Amino acid sequence: MTGESQQEQRMTPLGQHSAPQRVIAHLSDPHLLAGGRGLHGVDSEGVLRRALAQLEASRLPISALVFTGDLTDLGEPEAYETLRAIVEPTAERLGAQIVWVMGNHDERPAFADAFFGGEAGDRAQDRVYDVDGLRIVALDSTVTGYHHGGLDPEQLDWLRGVLDEPAPLGTIVALHHPPLPSLVELMNVLELRDQHQLADVLAGTDVRAVLAGHLHHGVTGQFAGVPVSVAASSCYTIDAGAPRPSLAGLDGGQTMNLVAVYPYTVTHTTVPIGSFPVVAGFEAAFAEELAALDDAGRLERFSRKR
Ligand SMILES: [Fe+2]
Ligand SMILES: [Fe+2]
Repeated sequence: MTGESQQEQRMTPLGQHSAPQRVIAHLSDPHLLAGGRGLHGVDSEGVLRRALAQLEASRLPISALVFTGDLTDLGEPEAYETLRAIVEPTAERLGAQIVWVMGNHDERPAFADAFFGGEAGDRAQDRVYDVDGLRIVALDSTVTGYHHGGLDPEQLDWLRGVLDEPAPLGTIVALHHPPLPSLVELMNVLELRDQHQLADVLAGTDVRAVLAGHLHHGVTGQFAGVPVSVAASSCYTIDAGAPRPSLAGLDGGQTMNLVAVYPYTVTHTTVPIGSFPVVAGFEAAFAEELAALDDAGRLERFSRKR
């Protein structure tokens, strides 16, 4: 069975929308440390393993795993090796590409060594991926020696050149520092600076979504007319509802996002990471029963109030 027919079989539309053309898993900020140490006591490796196991168990046709930075907490080579050892087998089984994006806690030379044979380790780690017609641009928004973000003029020129030619399914830009404000005021010190320069490059292009991390809390917004989706962390999360003006990092509420690309829209769905009691639901047999009915039959079986 080909990948395409598996996709069709797994995602038979039961409503008016066709199945997504691509499904991408968006994870962020795993912050791995060497020696299996958990950051702030969070079992960051365990949460990540759990997230990947959930993706595999989902039976979704995931064609890329995008990690929007802070892959490690200190840029330790061993931590990158651990990350590869955890993620690559899952990606292989899913048949998914991995898109690694630099974060402010990463170090360019170690990042380049770990994933790209040391390629351009002294420069911005910007790369283009082709996910069967969907273009994903990994943009390195880090500023060496600092935690805030920035893009230099060469990067912006490069991005403008890449986006000159549209991709068949459009483009997703993945970068660590989101071009959005955070309600957690302290995080705005560590923002992407001079965001208007990126807006000038993105406006009017085929970019359909911007994926980011860094904030450790989920948020969505608009930037230069493009939807922006920030995935929370798979390590500690930041409680955006905590009493002001403090910043509270939690071991809890870890999530990842599923990005579904349709011809006319891109959706971002937040998924809890962890094992929770299932208290309601329907078995697969019920979905199969609905799939065998026509539209009116489905409404009768599942929509009509009893
Ligand atoms: Fe982070
Ligand atoms: Fe960060």
